[in-house]
Amino acid sequence: VDLYRPRRANSRGLEFGHRAALAALVKGVDATAVPVADARPVAGGKALQGTARPVVSPVDGKTVVGTVHEAAPDTADAAVEAAAKGFAAWSRVVPEERARILERIADAYEDKQDDLMALLAAEGGRTLVDGLAEVREAIDFCRYYGAETRRVFVEKVMPGPTGEENRYRHRGRGVFVCISPWNFPLAIFTGQIVAALAAGNAVVAKPAEQTPLVGAFAVRLMHEAGIPGEALQIVPGDGAVGARLVGHRRVAGVAFTGSTETGGKINRALAAKDGPIVPLIAETGGINSMIVDATALPEQVADDVVMSAFRSAGQRCSALRLLLVQEDVADKVIDMICGAARELTLGDPADPATDIGPVIDAEARDRLAAHVARMETEQTVRFSGATPDGPLAGGTWFAPHVVELESAADLTEEIFGPVLHVVRWKARDLDAVIDRIGATGYGLTLGVHSRIDAVHRKVADRLPVGNVYVNRNIIGAVVGTQPFGGSGLSGTGPKAGGPDYLARFAQEQVVSINT
Ligand code: SER
Repeated sequence: VDLYRPRRANSRGLEFGHRAALAALVKGVDATAVPVADARPVAGGKALQGTARPVVSPVDGKTVVGTVHEAAPDTADAAVEAAAKGFAAWSRVVPEERARILERIADAYEDKQDDLMALLAAEGGRTLVDGLAEVREAIDFCRYYGAETRRVFVEKVMPGPTGEENRYRHRGRGVFVCISPWNFPLAIFTGQIVAALAAGNAVVAKPAEQTPLVGAFAVRLMHEAGIPGEALQIVPGDGAVGARLVGHRRVAGVAFTGSTETGGKINRALAAKDGPIVPLIAETGGINSMIVDATALPEQVADDVVMSAFRSAGQRCSALRLLLVQEDVADKVIDMICGAARELTLGDPADPATDIGPVIDAEARDRLAAHVARMETEQTVRFSGATPDGPLAGGTWFAPHVVELESAADLTEEIFGPVLHVVRWKARDLDAVIDRIGATGYGLTLGVHSRIDAVHRKVADRLPVGNVYVNRNIIGAVVGTQPFGGSGLSGTGPKAGGPDYLARFAQEQVVSINT
């Protein structure tokens, strides 16, 4: 076994069962006093004008967390042009220095952990467990890509004939546009940006419309840690701003994480542009499945399913959407899942007793509600949870649901929230189950619960899924340990937090010298 191990360690966690440590965290994470209340376009080191809009917390639907100044399309153009100017100087910064700055960003995030978590809770509805995991993931991205910069960006002398020297190196492409989602407003936002910068590109980042304040805070910390203002610009705004950035003729690459639909639109927009062919690194959606056979341990299955389907209110691209359980154990497994789901507490994300926070906004909640309403008439809803009342009733809540489908084919789209769909299968039908998962066209995460090795080997071999998890939950990929990303409708690769990521942000050059 080969261990691929750049020199660095993942960030430290916290044992939530340790009372004193948890009390200190709760005291530190004050969601009523967020550190950044203003998100503006910033380009070439200067704050620019935008149209002001209040950012309202999804937790109660009324607290104004801050103000975003959304960029006009012209401002998006100005940001790309500023980045194009900034590229010249940033691309000359040596890899060792780029790596050190990334490590300083990690240190700054570590230092500001509580403030980042407070903002993640207030603006993004992220619970303490999720917020901490997210800050750690962001830190890990910085340190991992820092270590990777030292490995990938070393010039290599290639074998060749005597009298000739062939030098092979990676260098920045130019301006990279990074478009990130609201469900990991810190970790994915940071991961894309630091990878693009580590590879020597200048960056224009567009945070998700719903989470501009986390993005603004992160960019401030990155600038303070030593990323020059000209190398990193931020442009808060809606999809029209994203489209304007992608369409700009100076853009040399796009990193996108979000829906499959938007990924397709970006791909088509890039293809329609005149000029150079622009690469797209996209990580999109999934109809993530878990296969459970009769040899699985029902208690462990229930625990892993509840975690995979409902943690983060199911708002992870890795989350479990479709559970395929062998009929011999199905009743027991479904009962256990519904029983465990009933114990989950929805509430204030900054309260350590909370398991699940709100969904991101009213549009997300309404879409989920419409889906469940349809399921109520067409399928069998096995469990519906309760949402908070009292002062939080105005938040955008959507409780966990368990829906039993007649056929796996009845789930035709990604439902981005805490709705688990279950189907039963007969022992002799494993091949058909595998084919059905393949037929979705998605390939992000997949779970298998079976104590028969041949079953998980067969499933992994037959399906081109990016991340296969055996006898465990299917979320929370760890940077540098479980490189993350899928294939087909789920994205282009390369995997974030993996050894092939940085090189895709770069272009290669060979210099052959007749000595
Ligand atoms: N990287 C995240 C996870 O593994 C993606 O949503 O859960």
